Amino acid sequence: MKVLFIGDIVGRRARNFVQDKIVELKTRLKLDAIIVNVENAAGGFGVTPSICDDFFRAGADVLTTGNHIWDKREIISYISKNDRLLRPLNMIEGTPGLGITTVQLDTGKIGVANIMTNLFMQKTDHVFDKMPEILEKLELKINVDFSLIDIHGEASSEKMALGNALDGNVTAVVGTHTHVPTADHQILENGTAYITDVGMSGDYNSIIGMNKKDALNRFLFPQNKKSRLEVSLGEPTLCGVIIESNERGLSKSITPLRLGGKLEQTKLE
Ligand SMILES: [Fe+2]
Repeated sequence: MKVLFIGDIVGRRARNFVQDKIVELKTRLKLDAIIVNVENAAGGFGVTPSICDDFFRAGADVLTTGNHIWDKREIISYISKNDRLLRPLNMIEGTPGLGITTVQLDTGKIGVANIMTNLFMQKTDHVFDKMPEILEKLELKINVDFSLIDIHGEASSEKMALGNALDGNVTAVVGTHTHVPTADHQILENGTAYITDVGMSGDYNSIIGMNKKDALNRFLFPQNKKSRLEVSLGEPTLCGVIIESNERGLSKSITPLRLGGKLEQTKLE
């Protein structure tokens, strides 16, 4: 199967750009599925029900999130009824919504898990404790044909450790949250595709997607009252990875996709 995962959408301009692009990319790249991290899609903080609906209408199959999932309160009732919008699996028991889901497509069944790491992140259950649940629910060729884990976190060491811990048992482990793409996309020893961070889909003439002046002032004058961060509105770059699986459900290839804006562009065939 061929699946496109798109990194953290930051704000309206990136949202519109990505929604327009995925319509075209699905046919052009012959994609079986599209998964998008939307946790910063609403003005940089959280996501709303109507934004989720727009992504599903545009062709996204599953949406993932992270620490900002609850920033817009109206998402609570929406996520309770929607099994294609995920929140991190390791949030405390009783949290609304799902952290793992499966979707039956015409060409096979995909499984997606969303999990948050522990280092330098808000408190959640221990991330490595959730591995048995992921492996059980997303067992390749038993429960799903393709599985992807979105690991939302700050520390590259922890993300690499998790990637290697899952190696050989899931199709892909992709990192999100830092908003900066890494160049370490690879197939791990036992066949799992891995990248430490896919990068955000947003304006790279910014500080992780936010207006440079406000973000910089927070570092220069930490004693001042924190000003509200606004999304940077320059031309966005879509950042994603395309993962192709083999007949065993492991990965054949992982290819970065960067379209629009300031970053080096991927040339599409
Ligand atoms: Fe995040």
